[in-house]
Formats: sequence, C-alpha cells, structure tokens
Amino acid sequence: MRKTSAKVWGAVLTAAIAVAVSLPAAPPAKTLASFDPQAKALLARMTLEEKIGQMTQPDQEYVKDLADLEKYAIGSVLSGGSSDPKEGNSLGAWTDMYDRIQQHSAKTRLRIPILYGVDALHGHNNVLGAVIFPHNVGLGCARNAALVEKIARITAEEVRATGIQWTFAPCVAVPQDVRWGRTYEGFGEDPALVQELGAAAVRGLQGEDLANPLAVLACAKHYVGDGGTAFGSARGGKGLDQGDTRVDEATLRRIHLPGYVAAIREGVGTIMPSYSSWNGVKCSASKRLLTEILKQELGFQGFLISDYNALDQLAPDFKEAIAISINAGMDMAMVPERYREFIAGLEGLVKEGKVPMARIDDAVTRILRVKFALGMMDQGRSQLADRKLQKSFGSAEHRAVARDAVRQSLVLLKNERGTLPLAKGAARIHVGGKNADDLGNQCGGWTIDWQGKSGAVTSGGTTILAAIRKAVGSATRVTFAKDGTGAAGAAVGVVVIGEKPYAEFDGDRADLSLAAEDVAAVNNMKAAGIPVVVVLLSGRPLILGEVLEKADALVAAWLPGSEGEGVTDVLFGDFAPTGKLSFSWPRTMQQLGERQAALFAYGYGLKY
Ligand code: GLC
Repeated sequence: MRKTSAKVWGAVLTAAIAVAVSLPAAPPAKTLASFDPQAKALLARMTLEEKIGQMTQPDQEYVKDLADLEKYAIGSVLSGGSSDPKEGNSLGAWTDMYDRIQQHSAKTRLRIPILYGVDALHGHNNVLGAVIFPHNVGLGCARNAALVEKIARITAEEVRATGIQWTFAPCVAVPQDVRWGRTYEGFGEDPALVQELGAAAVRGLQGEDLANPLAVLACAKHYVGDGGTAFGSARGGKGLDQGDTRVDEATLRRIHLPGYVAAIREGVGTIMPSYSSWNGVKCSASKRLLTEILKQELGFQGFLISDYNALDQLAPDFKEAIAISINAGMDMAMVPERYREFIAGLEGLVKEGKVPMARIDDAVTRILRVKFALGMMDQGRSQLADRKLQKSFGSAEHRAVARDAVRQSLVLLKNERGTLPLAKGAARIHVGGKNADDLGNQCGGWTIDWQGKSGAVTSGGTTILAAIRKAVGSATRVTFAKDGTGAAGAAVGVVVIGEKPYAEFDGDRADLSLAAEDVAAVNNMKAAGIPVVVVLLSGRPLILGEVLEKADALVAAWLPGSEGEGVTDVLFGDFAPTGKLSFSWPRTMQQLGERQAALFAYGYGLKY
C-alpha cells in the first residue's frame, strides 16, 4: 500500500476531529459486524452460484421472466427512476409488484429474501400520491438536522408501505460547481453542512435498529467527489456529471469525504460508488477508494452497490469490467439488464482464479450482515408488505411536515418597500410565470419519472397558484396569466419562474441565465406599474440579471415539492422567512467560481 504522507494524515485527523466534534451521540448499538456469526454460518452453506446471486441486482423492468429470480437466486432487485409496475403506477400496484417479486425468493433453496431498492430521495417519489418533500438543496437552506431526520423517517414509512426496504439515499455530494445537473441532490457547498444533514438522513431512514419494520436501509452516495468534477470533463467536453474530480487526496478528504465518515458512524448499511473519476481513475474501479480508504481505514461494515450500469464504463470488455470492479471492492452490481451476463462472467472469473473466492465471501458476508440486521432472516417474520402502513401514505399529517419543510427552506433574497408579506385582503393579486401552476416543475427531477416532468404529475399536491387562492380572503380576486400580462390595476404581482425538471447529466448547464420567457413574464408584470414579487423554483442558484432590479421582492424556493402552501405561508407572513443560502449565489457566469464575488454569500437570507 502506498505510504500516506504526513500532510494527508494531518487532513485525515482534521476530518476525523471535525466529524467527532459535530456529530451527536454514539452510533447504533448493534454494528453490522455483530451479525457475522449468522452471516458466516449461512455463507458456509452456499454454493458459488448462490453467492453470486446475492451480488446481483437487476431492474424489475428487465426481468421478463420472474422465474429468473429463483433460477439465479437473485439477492436484490431495483426500480430505476422510471421503472414502474407494468400494471401502472399506484400504491397498490407498487405493493403487489414488491410482493410478487419477494414471493419468488421464498422458492429458492436457502429462501434468502430479496432486498428491493428504489430512489426515494424526497419522499417515495416514484409512487403516485406519495408526499413529495423539498429536494436537498432546499433542506440545506433550512439548516435543521432534526427536520431532515423527521422527513427521512416519514419517507421510510411511506417506502415500507409498499414493502420496499432500501432507498438509494442520502446523496452526500458536496457540489462545488452549480452548473452540475445534480446540484439539487446535495445539501450544499459546505462539507460540514452536508456531513450534519447526511448523518441526520441516515438516522431518520435506518432508525435506532434496522430490524424495526419501519426502518429502511440507507445508501450514502455517490462515493466519492461526485460533486467536485471539472466542467468539461464529461460528455465530450460539455458537462460535469460523471466527469473527473481533479484534486489532491487532502482536498478530496477535506471536501468530499466527511459525509461518508458521518454516515459510517451512523451505521449506514450501503454506499454507492460514483460513476465519476478521481484524477482519471473511475471511483468504481479504485481499490484505494473502495477497499483501502472506505473499508480498511474508515471501517465501513456494510456493502457497496454499484451505480446503474456503472460497470459498463470500466472496460470495453464486460467480463474484464466485472473483474476490475469486484476486485476493487464492489460487493453488489446494479446490472439492470445484463444480470445473466454478469452472473456468468463472475462465475467464470472465480473459476479462472481472476477473482479470489475470498473476495466473493467478503462481499456476500457484507450483504448477509445487512439482511440479518434488517430482520430479513428472522424465521416466522413475513417479508411481504405490511399494508396496514398504507393508511398514513400521503396523509395530511405527512403533508404538514412537508409544508413546514418548505417554509423553512425558503430564502428571502430581496424585500424592498415592505412588499412582503402580502396582504390577504388585497383587492386583486395577479399571478404569472410558467412555474406558478405546475406541480411537476415545483417537484423537479426524480418525481414519478426519472427526469420528472412538467404538469400535474402526481395526486394530492398543491401548486403555488392554488395555494395563493386558498390563502387570500373571500373578497380578494386572484387572476393568472402565465406570461404576466393583464396585471394593470392589481395590488401586487407574483411571478413564479425558474427551471423545468431534469436529473443527472440532463441538468448539466453551461449557462445558468434565466429563460427568456421568465424574464418576459417579470417585465410584463412590472410594466403594469405594481409591486412585483419574484419566486424562483430551481435546483440551484441562477443568474438573475435584470430580474433582480425589476423585482421588489425575491424569494428562492428551490424545488419545494408537492406542498405549495409552504411557499404562501411565507409570502403572506404566516411564517417569517428563516432560510439561509446553502450555496454561494453567483453574480455572473464569468464569476461563477469566485465565491468572494458572489451576488449573495453562502449563509445569506433576509428576515421580515
Ligand atoms: C442513477 C443514479 C443513482 C441512482 C441509480 C438507481 O443513474 O446515478 O443516483 O441511485 O441510478 O436509480
């Protein structure tokens, strides 16, 4: 192993002290390794085929014959961002799909239950009717770890209502360049904030004991430095997502590692290595990162799950890619379609001596530890969904927590001449902007569909326009024109603008200027000669340009999710704004990386 320089050890010590100082009390009582006696006893009974089956995770949409789950003794299945039940998207269909899949595991020789994984990032966001919470970019502005923990606990309850036991969350990326399409999945640009809120999310999801039927297995991702890639290092020189993080080890540890140190301390059961690279080496292929640092130095006792088809990027030859990643320390492969090829390839590699059986046994021991810790191996405990949990799915109580999270996430950036709070008794309020009456734009990516989409994407939510209509008195007229025209004579104009949904590399942007239609809507509203309130729905800071001048008041509402009334609670003064920026707000694209020249600094936020 390469000698670690004194400078690096100094950084490690600093990071460790930072973690120790800022984290709450001790980690969960039972460590994952405490389940080794049971795990190793079961491992000893397993054939090579059964062991490799545990290391294999297909996507349900590509398992055309569910008999494959028995044939290959599959250990885990996922639903990717748009992988809905073939019967359609409903709470019942998702639960039936989970149960149908789980029942096949009961027909295998060893009856090891299947771990089902899904991206429940801001609620159980794949399922119609689930509460959609603010994305992490907004939660970062709330600066409230207890709230993040409560949201995660509610998310876990709604996930368990479908039977599913595992979410690929929290994302503990520390985005350094807001042109990155996954900025909104991060809590902020500051490692200490990400560490604190990432730890809270793990606590909320996993609880004190993974065996609790309401606990859900968490997954800290994407290890490591996914938020630090260089612009132009991906996608033929045009993007950042899945690019290359070009920093020395001390910087990698200082900025991008604390979230994992904290998650491991909380007992996180899984970690997902990143598609991205560190100084030209793919994270998913790096023995230094996966084994030496994460497992040996930091003592991670759970298992590593690859990202979706991430193995495909490691070598032109798939079998070689399998060898590279598994030997580097990957424990389970997310191979949505190529699961048969993966199984055959890995069996061949073991028989050829290119992947040691000791590596297979380590991977399967880690996977079995987690399954024992989750109570999945408890004889007599049903692994089918507990449908009694469904009475709270999308409930008013859960929505109230989401509404409070929205309130706390809003950041007031400008408020002149007492424009805010608005009067509920105003004669007329004119509303404009493409995002005023669009639940899909309010929720952002990873909502019902992988990329999300505009429009009435789910049930149970409230748009900001609908929330304004609910908030005002009976004598107040609320009028709406998406382009902002028709405002003359109104007491005040509210223009809701910003981004349309996107996810991952589809959200990489070279230019963060506001869309022309947004600027036009503000100008049209302003032309009426009335006070103008601009509400920005976006996954990151955007370049405000002339809109900042035109706005009498400006609120960053991020991607608030289904509960739009949280926005109007602040606009009408029922809740005074408390949010503080979790990202520096750039003044121009030219000054993007210059935080000291920011338009609004990290931590900025006005009060009434
Ligand atoms: C995606 C994402 C990852 C997600 C996984 C499964 O490509 O990179 O965050 O958990 O695939 O959907």
